[in-house]
Amino acid sequence: MKISVRAQSCTAEGAFEVLAKAKALEREKGIKVIHLEIGEPDFDTPSGIIDSCKEALDQGHTHYTPAAGIPELREAVAQYLTRHRGVDFDPQDILISTGGKLLIFATCMTFLEEGDEAIYPDPGYPPYRSAIRLAGGHPVPLPLLEEDDYRIDVDRLSKLITPKTRLIILNSPQNPTGALLKKDDLEKIAEVIKDSNAIVFSDEIYSHLIYGNNAKHASIATIPGMKNRTVLMDGMSKTYAMTGWRLAYAAVPREYFTPMQKIINNTVSCTPTFVQYAGIHALLGDNPEVAIMKEKFAKRRTLMTRLAGDIPGFSAKEPDGAFYLFVNVKDILSKYQLSSKALADHLLYQAGVACLGGSAFGDTGEGYLRFSYANSSPNIEEAMDRIKKIIVKDFPL
Ligand SMILES: Cc1ncc(COP(=O)(O)O)c(C=O)c1O
Repeated sequence: MKISVRAQSCTAEGAFEVLAKAKALEREKGIKVIHLEIGEPDFDTPSGIIDSCKEALDQGHTHYTPAAGIPELREAVAQYLTRHRGVDFDPQDILISTGGKLLIFATCMTFLEEGDEAIYPDPGYPPYRSAIRLAGGHPVPLPLLEEDDYRIDVDRLSKLITPKTRLIILNSPQNPTGALLKKDDLEKIAEVIKDSNAIVFSDEIYSHLIYGNNAKHASIATIPGMKNRTVLMDGMSKTYAMTGWRLAYAAVPREYFTPMQKIINNTVSCTPTFVQYAGIHALLGDNPEVAIMKEKFAKRRTLMTRLAGDIPGFSAKEPDGAFYLFVNVKDILSKYQLSSKALADHLLYQAGVACLGGSAFGDTGEGYLRFSYANSSPNIEEAMDRIKKIIVKDFPL
């Protein structure tokens, strides 16, 4: 049977591929791999959230809910977003989803016709490109460069916008670079977008994970005139260590709400009911663990940046947000005629450290490695030590 062109255009996510390879290595060779490839907190979900879920199960919240989500959670999200983003959000515009990834797909399915162009960050989260292609759209990569601190160059963006551009994907704090778009970046970006036919998908899943005194989260939805053309996505996976719960939400401009809701309705029906009840506690309850996790991420960020900087041929600036370090390894790659993927494989098989070649995030990511610091400080120390030994031995500069 022929596989559809759309299904063929969908690529597997690098982090999951490397995780499978690393697990096979552990199983077959008994090697203890240090996992710096996958983007998920190593902490447990805060206990209050788990208790709320158990309570919801005990109370019999085990049936379907409306596709858009239970009213109590939609209300909680609206309150939370209003407080955190500083503009008013109405519960009617809040769509609950089984994870942020589904909202990326639902957005692409809602706005893209065959051949419509969608601009997405490169390097960037790999499902953007897959979702655009699955929806029949034409993916247009927006290069993010190290010399711009991986922030969006507005002239470059404006040159990519054409009358066929229907969707522009933004992501801040950014995966894989940790870059943060500042309010004035967003004002300039909004100026350019306002003259186009495009809707913005603003992926703010790392909004809580921002470090340093001066760094602050800003959303394009708060720029005057942008809220009614922005699908703002955030979720519980990263902030509350809830990756396996599959819970996220979007604030959707009212005129697009019903079509997006229908996509949720026709795919997953709704988000698991007891998970939604737990989500209310995540957003509005007391979760002291969240601040502790963030503090630990901040320390690990500094530790990993310092240790990576001691490895010959590695260079990286301390990122502002998320939990990734994007390391420039171009000198090693060019001297040894290697790809970033080949270097990442070498580190997996020779050092027992799993990380991702930058090309897993798009062509502009070639020349870099991504390390997740969602792992303990002792593991980060050991990983960087193992890597340093292998690099000094196998790839002297
Ligand atoms: C930038 C970005 N967006 C969205 C997601 C999806 O998160 P989830 O589907 O777990 O809500 C991720 C997960 O790694 C991510 O890095």
